[in-house]
Amino acid sequence: MAKTPAHVIGIYPGSFDPITNGHLDLIERGSRLVDHLVVAILRNEKKQALFSVEERTEMLRVATARFPNVEIDFFDGLLVHYAKHRNAGVIIRGIRAISDYEHELQMALMNRRLQPDIETVFMMASEAYSFISSQLVKEVIRLGGNITGLVPPIVEAKLKDRFPGENTQQWKQHSS
Ligand code: PNS
Repeated sequence: MAKTPAHVIGIYPGSFDPITNGHLDLIERGSRLVDHLVVAILRNEKKQALFSVEERTEMLRVATARFPNVEIDFFDGLLVHYAKHRNAGVIIRGIRAISDYEHELQMALMNRRLQPDIETVFMMASEAYSFISSQLVKEVIRLGGNITGLVPPIVEAKLKDRFPGENTQQWKQHSS
């Protein structure tokens, strides 16, 4: 009897505070690898985030609206428990540079130890995005730099609302 092809569910977890074009590139690539991709935002009460989970969900929804098999959700607690609850077989994580690898390997091995039947897949974003992180984007906009092309338009607009030009070029006043 012919075997029914498995319906593969993937989880792409992260803080997404906020989503960058690097994340978006991975979501697009990941959505081609699995049948259904759940982008899962970690709700971490202890970690001070710039955007609430609701705001991050909204930005992710808008930015990923063109991918029909992508869903946005959030989770608390252990990732593998959430992945199991969602019947996911695959966890997708992005690797930008070798510096990401050590921590990612540690997490992947711990997750495998906790839940051996869930496989972590490391993916590389396009090299055009390999230097982008949410942290750096926030720092650049906070200090008045241009972030166009680094984040989806909805995120750029939200960040501009949060940092409406303060801290820019104070040195000009000193030198004139
Ligand atoms: O975007 P980030 O902040 O690098 O994502 C990290 C994340 C959310 C994937 C990681 O912190 C995580 O999985 N947290 C949930 C708690 C957990 O499962 N910890 C054990 C991982 S080994």
